[in-house]
Amino acid sequence: MRHVGVGMLGTGFIGEFHTLGLRYVDGARVVAHADGNAERRAAFAERFGSRAHDSIEALCADPDVDLVVVSLPNQFHREAVLRAAAAGKGVACTKPLGRSAAEAADMLRAVTDAGVFHAYLENVVFNPDLLRLRDMVAAGSLGRLTTVRAREGHSGPHAAHFWDAEVAGGGALLDMASHGTEVARFLFGKELPATEVFAWGDTLVHRDRTTGEDNALMIIRFADGRAASCDVSWSSKGGLEGRFEAWGDAGRAVVDISVGSMKAFIERPSGYLVEKADADTGWVFPVPDEVRVHGHDLMMADVVGAFRDGRRPTETFGDGYVVNAILDAAYRSMRSGHWEPVTLDEPLVARATSSLAGLSA
Ligand SMILES: NC(=O)c1ccc[n+]([C@@H]2O[C@H](COP(=O)([O-])OP(=O)(O)OC[C@H]3O[C@@H](n4cnc5c(N)ncnc54)[C@H](O)[C@@H]3O)[C@@H](O)[C@H]2O)c1
Repeated sequence: MRHVGVGMLGTGFIGEFHTLGLRYVDGARVVAHADGNAERRAAFAERFGSRAHDSIEALCADPDVDLVVVSLPNQFHREAVLRAAAAGKGVACTKPLGRSAAEAADMLRAVTDAGVFHAYLENVVFNPDLLRLRDMVAAGSLGRLTTVRAREGHSGPHAAHFWDAEVAGGGALLDMASHGTEVARFLFGKELPATEVFAWGDTLVHRDRTTGEDNALMIIRFADGRAASCDVSWSSKGGLEGRFEAWGDAGRAVVDISVGSMKAFIERPSGYLVEKADADTGWVFPVPDEVRVHGHDLMMADVVGAFRDGRRPTETFGDGYVVNAILDAAYRSMRSGHWEPVTLDEPLVARATSSLAGLSA
């Protein structure tokens, strides 16, 4: 089996999840990493034994890196992808792919023109329950799916770059509804185009920290009239919530990826419990295998397997681009107060699709 050398670009919160998500993937090894922060760079080298670089350029030039995994703040995704593609490396990028559809289009164009492997790191659709739900929907168990509803919240991001809406490209909607949007496409079937979007967003709580929306609601209407809704919040107390519902004319299903089976009452803290826990004593809800529950294990197996075997991964930059286009329409709707159309660069989508046509999924 061919060994895949992974270059981890960014070793913060999601860089760690991505790295841990590789731990059961046969033949994959993080051979190098890069981070602008010297302490994090050194700590990662010590923990995972990979070669440390201090820049995007240096990591992309490393001859042992086959696949660059972009785990950087939103404002660096485009630069990282363009450099990886220019260096002829495969590239996988976390959500949101771009800060806007225009940025995502640049990335999709770059990987398509360079003919390199690309994967969109949307972990939620690899949550084991959501995969099961997708199979149940496909088998017709819920009848004809009518709506997909996503509710995602926590009390606010952990790092400063999320709070600068101008630099990050948006607030809670871009950050969180990127997941719900792709879950909706995944469950309805990606061949069903999203045509228009209605959205509301406002800064209700964190006016001292951001000019971006900290709460938002969005309805996505698809070509055949069915709809999905995303309800997101950066001011939702009580820890992370990631709840996804599928409603059909013969059934209904709910998946909550933020809880496991354990609940505990503790009077003394026990270290890290779960992402964005608001409390470390009292009633707590630890998720012991969060990397798997959040979908990172199966996502990384899919991405590395597809790269190694020359297959198309489940989620490509084409998917990330469509998600950005839907979110762009939502931001336009927030300003106009009307339904706004989802607009895509159709020739680019057609070119990107045909470049993957020969690959098995
Ligand atoms: N899939 C998910 O559920 C999920 C969850 C959290 C974050 N994310 C995404 O991951 C990305 C990063 O978020 P995070 O939470 O890991 O942020 P973070 O701040 O925890 O980590 C970012 C890391 O990148 C490093 N860095 C920043 N600029 C750099 C540069 N130019 N060159 C090299 N290193 C640089 C920082 O030093 C830091 O270690 C964002 O795009 C975010 O949307 C995805």
